[in-house]
Amino acid sequence: MVCLGNICRSPLGEGILKKKIDEVGLDWQVDSAGTGAWHIGNPPDERSVDTARKNNIDISDIRARKCTRRDLIEYDLILAMDQENYDQLVQMVGHGNEIDKIKLLLDYLKPGERLSVPDPYWGGIEGFNRVFKLIEEACSALIDAHAPAEDNQRG
Ligand code: 4NP
Repeated sequence: MVCLGNICRSPLGEGILKKKIDEVGLDWQVDSAGTGAWHIGNPPDERSVDTARKNNIDISDIRARKCTRRDLIEYDLILAMDQENYDQLVQMVGHGNEIDKIKLLLDYLKPGERLSVPDPYWGGIEGFNRVFKLIEEACSALIDAHAPAEDNQRG
């Protein structure tokens, strides 16, 4: 899960997806990172921590880090929160063949619409609630796309 700062959206993405795969018994490795370096080492924004906690998810232990070339090589899927993050990731790949692994997270929810999870950083808590719901719906669609119910412990 990749956003700009790795303190608002992508830590929510990491926490939500980890909870969901746990619920359905999938053994996926999930992590998050940012394309920017400003917040390296910081915990998630308190508004993200609170929003997650209201939904019984603890993301307080996450520490921000910057996405690396190695991430792009090692992970099977690189999920960008918005178009800007997506463009940055594509630039990092350069001529590498990892480009096909980079997706907009919301493409799982609304295929082909190229929608972005809005950056909630400069707004109020309602923006974080909205972002939580969007990411949660997209993560459900992601699991259905890559591990349909008959392939996991739900099925
Ligand atoms: P995020 O939100 O990319 O969802 O973590 C942001 C966090 C910090 C900043 C921008 C967006 N910032 O400008 O510091």
